[in-house]
Amino acid sequence: MAITRRQLVASAGLLAGGSTAVARTKRGARATPSGFLWGTAISAHQSEGNNTASDSWLLETITPTAFKDPSGDACDSFARYAEDLDIAASLGLNCYRFGIEWARIEPAQGMFSQAALDHYVRVLEACHARGLLPIVTYNHFTVPLWFAMRGGFEVADGADLFARFCERATARLGSLIGMASTFNEANILGLRKVLPRFASDAAAENARAMIAAAARRTNAPRFSSMLFGDPDKINTVMLDAHAKGLAAIKAGPGSFPAGVTLTMQEIQGVGPGNRAAWAEETMYSGWIEAARSSDFVGVQTYSRLRINDRGLMPSEPGVPLTDMGYENYPSAIGATIRYAAKHIGRPIYLTETGIGTTDDAARAAFIDATVAEVAKCIADGIPVKGYLYWSLLDNFEWTSGYAKQFGLVAVDRRTFKRTPKPSAQVLARHARANRL
Ligand code: BGC
Repeated sequence: MAITRRQLVASAGLLAGGSTAVARTKRGARATPSGFLWGTAISAHQSEGNNTASDSWLLETITPTAFKDPSGDACDSFARYAEDLDIAASLGLNCYRFGIEWARIEPAQGMFSQAALDHYVRVLEACHARGLLPIVTYNHFTVPLWFAMRGGFEVADGADLFARFCERATARLGSLIGMASTFNEANILGLRKVLPRFASDAAAENARAMIAAAARRTNAPRFSSMLFGDPDKINTVMLDAHAKGLAAIKAGPGSFPAGVTLTMQEIQGVGPGNRAAWAEETMYSGWIEAARSSDFVGVQTYSRLRINDRGLMPSEPGVPLTDMGYENYPSAIGATIRYAAKHIGRPIYLTETGIGTTDDAARAAFIDATVAEVAKCIADGIPVKGYLYWSLLDNFEWTSGYAKQFGLVAVDRRTFKRTPKPSAQVLARHARANRL
């Protein structure tokens, strides 16, 4: 599908209009700052299906595995992306955050797939054709299998290989990209260190056994996968990879805001001697500074963490839990946006928040609560420029498999038929009213 100049200009206008000027509606309510982005987010591996050249594909299919289900066909979005974009556009959204998959673009080291890049050109063009500003994630946890086999982000030159991927992908796609982030939740391993269950329980043991099995199967003793590797080694290399990747992306072609998205959960210190400061340092370890030198920060918030003098506390009695087992606590969103404003001071996009639940009324309430949180922040003068719900579709929820449902749209696992849920209309109403 050819993209017209008008479509490109219309998309660019969304960005240019990111000022804090607000208009008044007829009823006197405050209209949203012009250029505000309303959207959904998704990742390549979780939706495309058959990402066979990735590290995750091996980990999901090996014995033992930490994954409840293999990703398999996922939502078949590799083939059905136009249908997904049609749904997003029909909801009145004006942006779409998705991933390009390194394992498809560089399936063997140094061998770049023209066909894979052409595919993403088509996806980008399809976004513009529907008035959806494409927000591209260059890495959303998965890496090519060859990259994991040589040590992933635990070896220093992993940063250079990531930067080369960024450069090659930007060379082909840059002129169509609306915004981009190097990494999704670059600090995810910092969060993992704060959550003790990952370090101690049977799931962690199982994950270690899975990585050992992958190392044996591939005859790669240094096998390292981002979500399961050594947090300290990986963090150092990823900070370098972000800096180099960002420079490669900024070199163009294309001239669009480029940044990073962070997992940002509200940290509440409880009681004397609480370790909230430790939790903050551990969760962000270097990424607040990295975000400060990016064009924007993507805030991604799902809940709060209460921290006492021993570390993470169990959930508070009386606070409802999501199906993920953590608290349904939407006011954490306002808290993390304020934290980002104070400590990072760059334009803020709420690039992810959502709720894993089979109770769609709870999802609708969560969306309303999110909008209220964003509105309060904007009223206080914080430069929040967009809100993207995770996720458009029920998709592959990593180790939890397909049972956990974050989507506005259900996906039949056999036919891939998409069925929007009532909560999709709740987001649509907010987007159409464009009022915060
Ligand atoms: C990740 C997504 C994930 C979502 C819900 C975020 O941490 O970026 O990949 O599906 O949370 O758990």
